[in-house]
Amino acid sequence: MKHIFEKGKNPSKPTLLLLHGTGGNELDLLPLAGRIDDEASVLSVRGNVLENGMPRFFRRLAEGVFDEEDLIFRTKELNDFLDESARKYDFNRNNIVAIGYSNGANIAASLLFHYQNALKAAILHHPMMPRKGIELPDLTGKSVFIGAGTNDPICSPLESNDLQSMLAKANAKVEIHWENKGHQLTASEVEAAAKWYRNL
Ligand code: MLT
Repeated sequence: MKHIFEKGKNPSKPTLLLLHGTGGNELDLLPLAGRIDDEASVLSVRGNVLENGMPRFFRRLAEGVFDEEDLIFRTKELNDFLDESARKYDFNRNNIVAIGYSNGANIAASLLFHYQNALKAAILHHPMMPRKGIELPDLTGKSVFIGAGTNDPICSPLESNDLQSMLAKANAKVEIHWENKGHQLTASEVEAAAKWYRNL
């Protein structure tokens, strides 16, 4: 997968996995990484799917309607890419913290839904429920921050709360932070995520 890897100053820190929103690329979230942890290594990935020229991490059939088969395939592809990258760049595969926005948050949530050890923790900015009606792996020891919007037109508060309870039912430690700026990723949401990360 097309990506950027930047080795951090402190090898005991997690590797931050950056996953952009629809139409973005691997450059978009680089400034966020510095605000979360400026000593951590960074692996920023570009989604492999194109929708009218816009990169995404998996196909959708319509706005908010996911192509489940492709989601499952792309989630495995990303998980395999994390295995390969950990070997290639010599970072700890068991210490990856994802930071995803929108479509990137959805594939990060899908990693948690399908693979017990894909991520150590995740910051999900405006995620949706990646799949419904499936059994999640035991996520004991995993921590998740959800940045949600009381008036997010893409992801309703009900769906944000459902995602929180699905993850919590699988034993993940989940914190949900509410904003009222629609689907936007605001500075105060990033600050809340940074504060959460410092207490990991
Ligand atoms: C998705 O397709 O993943 C969601 O609708 C969010 C987005 O628009 O990227």
